Amino acid sequence: MSKGKFSSGVDLPLPVNAPGVTKQERAYQAIRDAILNGLLQASDRLPSTRVLSQRWGIARGTVESVFERLQLEGYITRKVGSGSLVSAVIPDSYLKAVTDTRTGEPDRNESVEIEETPVRQEGRYRAQVGVPFVARLASPLLIAPAEWAAHLQRAMAAMKPEQMCDVEPQGAWVLRDQIAQYLRKHRGIDCRAEQLLITNGIRHSIDLVARCVLKPGDDVCVEDPGYPAVHRIFEKAGANLLYAPIDNEGIDLHGISDSAECRLAYVTPAHQSPLGVIMSATRRLELLDWAQRQNAWIIEDDYDSEFNYQSAPLPALKSIDSMKRVVYCGSFNQALFSNLRLGYILAPPELHHRILALWHTIGRSVGVSEQLGLAEFMRGPAFLRHLRRSRQEYQTLRDIVLDTLMAEAPGRYRISGEHAGFHLILWLSPDQDEDALVREAERLGLMLQPLRNSCREIDLPPAFVLGFAALTRAQARNSARQLARLLH
Ligand SMILES: Cc1ncc(COP(=O)(O)O)c(C=O)c1O
Repeated sequence: MSKGKFSSGVDLPLPVNAPGVTKQERAYQAIRDAILNGLLQASDRLPSTRVLSQRWGIARGTVESVFERLQLEGYITRKVGSGSLVSAVIPDSYLKAVTDTRTGEPDRNESVEIEETPVRQEGRYRAQVGVPFVARLASPLLIAPAEWAAHLQRAMAAMKPEQMCDVEPQGAWVLRDQIAQYLRKHRGIDCRAEQLLITNGIRHSIDLVARCVLKPGDDVCVEDPGYPAVHRIFEKAGANLLYAPIDNEGIDLHGISDSAECRLAYVTPAHQSPLGVIMSATRRLELLDWAQRQNAWIIEDDYDSEFNYQSAPLPALKSIDSMKRVVYCGSFNQALFSNLRLGYILAPPELHHRILALWHTIGRSVGVSEQLGLAEFMRGPAFLRHLRRSRQEYQTLRDIVLDTLMAEAPGRYRISGEHAGFHLILWLSPDQDEDALVREAERLGLMLQPLRNSCREIDLPPAFVLGFAALTRAQARNSARQLARLLH
């Protein structure tokens, strides 16, 4: 591990101007890269925002926002009177890999300007919306079938005969190219179309990885509490699951012994499923270091990072994967609608070839029409506009639920994990009976999903995973009122 030292005098050059990269993004990269490269080490003090704003010739407020983002991501801590200190601990193996693989290419991160449109009228598709408070469900109200059909139609009209039978097994190039652009601009991942494989979603991607990597009896490290559907995929592959607990920095690997024959770890760094914790920078680097030592792969499930309500989505773990250990799995089934069944894998080259070979054997599963329709959707402003509109609507729904509970059942619960995604965690007060609440809620047509259903070895206080995304605003208000009454 690197040793910290006091170095407020360190000179941080601002990366050169690149087209489409804002000053704020460049300032963020300058500090983050200095930490990741070891120029600034754990406990080092950063220059003040005033000094940096003068040195870089940018507004102090902009530098302030950059510091806030770095703090949120766990790279620095800020204390009144002591300034801003580097808190991320960078393993030596990571520093070595960064030095080995540095190419000198400018980072192509970019901030996004997304056009604003009003959310469509609620209630038009009432029959399709979910039951309150079912979790893990996107709203079917936010994309009109006619809008999706228009993209499909345009794509079909432009389709060339060879695309009807000659699409590459790894997926239509035009779609992979759009996804690669999206990942570069919005998730900080420098990748190209050739490195991507189209699947029908995250679970499908994970199943493919499991088949390529695991033999019966192999150990797989998973989060506890975690996403039960993925745990079942590993169990079906004959794996032995090692459960790593979650604390307020994300997955804690200390209990998973280095000597364990563990070939794979599965994590949700952006918004831990289900607790909602953001994995800190130190934990991200520890995890990468662990994978390097173990010669293991890490699956990064990035299921809902588009929906972050307190800041721009955090860069993916994959964006700092200099040792090529991370298999990044993304999906459009949350961002668009759950029956779309379109996702993708970005795997390190060795694994990419293994998955592709498996793909050839078992056949492809996503139709070319959907792939080309989605590429058409992503090409123009409509996709980013849809994400922006959905984020705003989900935030509104979350606020309705939180405000209603706060007004009508104060002191009867505690909330966590509400800064992102489709659900939050509602912790009960000690005098409440979890099972009775589930039964009472069911009588009222509400579905409360106990957190314990996502726990394997860990014992957590009673809580519910409360989904709010697949509701109309009226439903969110009424069902939150009903829940508040039950909590009383
Ligand atoms: C943590 C997590 N990963 C993956 C998924 C499923 O993704 P997909 O439908 O693309 O398989 C979900 C669904 O909500 C999820 O909660």
